Amino acid sequence: MHNDTQEIIAYFDALAPCWDEISRPEPEKLAAIVCLAGTMQGKKILDVACGTGVLFPYLLKQEPASLTGIDISAEMIRQAARKFSAPNINLVAGDVLKWKDDGFDFIFLHNAYPHFADKQKLAGWVWEHLAPGGRFMLAHSDGRATINSRHSGEKTREVSQGLGPATEEVALWREFLAVDILADTSEFYLISGIKK
Ligand SMILES: C[S@@+](CC[C@H](N)C(=O)[O-])C[C@H]1O[C@@H](n2cnc3c(N)ncnc32)[C@H](O)[C@@H]1O
Repeated sequence: MHNDTQEIIAYFDALAPCWDEISRPEPEKLAAIVCLAGTMQGKKILDVACGTGVLFPYLLKQEPASLTGIDISAEMIRQAARKFSAPNINLVAGDVLKWKDDGFDFIFLHNAYPHFADKQKLAGWVWEHLAPGGRFMLAHSDGRATINSRHSGEKTREVSQGLGPATEEVALWREFLAVDILADTSEFYLISGIKK
């Protein structure tokens, strides 16, 4: 269980040009995830591990003050930049855990949690970068069994740790968040709450 940074970059750089064709999350599910997070008008949003910006159209509909997407794969960011270029959109290529910012009202992590080997570090980073009253939304638009079977191939196992039951995983997040959304169903995996 290691998740080497260089392996993750190489893996997702290679997938980036065809990511939108292969990932294809259901639009209704993405809309539901964003809707559950609440009203974001005039707020600062961060999409961690944003990939090609799959969540962006749904987040932008909320009319935030700004939307920042960060991804460790420069190729993913290049694809996102081809699709989104509004003045209030910032795109960053880099490892989120080595990056610093003033903070955000909403932080999203969509379909990316299994790629973070050090969950404690990730949770601490999220806490530091959430404004008071800010919300974190960890979301998968598929159920845990689907994600884990998709990540069970030899190559993917090198860049993913799979997903544990949300009821167990949430213990770590409760140290940092007042958790008010927890779902581990055949269709969704969600852990969300307000900064403590
Ligand atoms: C399965 S993709 C999901 C992308 C996007 N969120 C989506 O829903 O389509 C996982 C993403 O996590 C990114 N990633 C993994 N570790 C990261 C890190 N430490 N910092 C930033 N991005 C990271 C990968 O480069 C990849 O684009």
